[in-house]
Amino acid sequence: MAKIILTGDRPTGRLHLGHYVGSLRRRVELQESGEFDKIFIMIADAQALTDNADNPEKVRQNIIQVALDYLSAGIDPAKTNIFIQSMIPELTELTFYYMNLVTVQRLQRNPTVKQEIQLRGFSDDEDNNNKKGTPVGFFCYPISQASDITAFKATTVPVGEDQEPMLEQCREIVRKFNSTYGPTLVEPDILLPDNPACCRLPGTDGKAKMSKSLGNCIYLSDSAEEVWEKVRGMFTDPGHLQVSDPGKVEGNAVFTYLDAFCKPEHFEKFRSCFIGKKVSFTFDSLDEVKDQYRKGGLGDMMVKSFLNAILNDVMEPIRARRAELEKDIPAVYEILRKGTEAARAEAAQTLKEVRHAMRIDYFDDPVLMSGM
Ligand code: TRP
Repeated sequence: MAKIILTGDRPTGRLHLGHYVGSLRRRVELQESGEFDKIFIMIADAQALTDNADNPEKVRQNIIQVALDYLSAGIDPAKTNIFIQSMIPELTELTFYYMNLVTVQRLQRNPTVKQEIQLRGFSDDEDNNNKKGTPVGFFCYPISQASDITAFKATTVPVGEDQEPMLEQCREIVRKFNSTYGPTLVEPDILLPDNPACCRLPGTDGKAKMSKSLGNCIYLSDSAEEVWEKVRGMFTDPGHLQVSDPGKVEGNAVFTYLDAFCKPEHFEKFRSCFIGKKVSFTFDSLDEVKDQYRKGGLGDMMVKSFLNAILNDVMEPIRARRAELEKDIPAVYEILRKGTEAARAEAAQTLKEVRHAMRIDYFDDPVLMSGM
């Protein structure tokens, strides 16, 4: 059986280092591994609209930003098909049929949906005089996500742990469909990050996650100046006041970032990374840095300068590619158009098979049409 990847992101903002570490970096590796027959990356604008119905302009503007982020991070349109979800009406049609295979009660038990409803304040507590209930489209997005995956007969879905309930629900839909209408759809596997701990990047304020609304993100498109500004202001150990004080590494965002980005070669490369002063960074491994920080005698500015150098080392090639791509935006839209066309052909084929299995392909059924 062909090995097919499908994954995607909601275009509600530019992508940040959390996305890079959590998924983008991995997608480029998967793309380069040559192990997959087809790779689809979807810009999930229809899903983004399920909780942004009042602001389609935000979604519209961010499609190109996310596409630029993908391409500058190394997604290669010759190997990976990038497409826009809402431009494939077959996905919506599939969703409508799948809706009959899922109960309201089952959706209500989906832990990610539950959590997201809470997070967005879509409480349905009517006594509370709450005018902001849960949009039906939002409630049903796990079903739409099952359509995204199955339309391309994806076998592998690389996503974070928070998407596990979506994949489980997708597999249930596949099993229900196949047992009701005959074997048609492919059950996908989730592909979780290798090392989830290092793949969950906290915000620069030390809070659990980078999130646009918290203003604690470093964006892939940030300039070197913006990166230094943000790194300089990063949360460390609030008890580490003097350079000589012992410091905590655990829960210290600067060290979490170093865990995610630092490689052995960075020590040699960034001996003299300290901004503004002639001080040399004499360590040879991250463990040595951590030991010294714990003992005391290593200042935050020193560690932040080292982190800043590393981040820019990672981000500079991405920045350079973005600058190139930004010179020709029509060419980027053309990549999306071509990718969407190719993706639509795949989805249309699956839909044909689905309609046939459900025996709702009336006009293609000569026996039915003959009136016999
Ligand atoms: N829900 C995903 C997110 O918020 C985006 C997404 C939509 C997706 N459809 C998908 C991911 C299908 C994987 C497969 O990031």
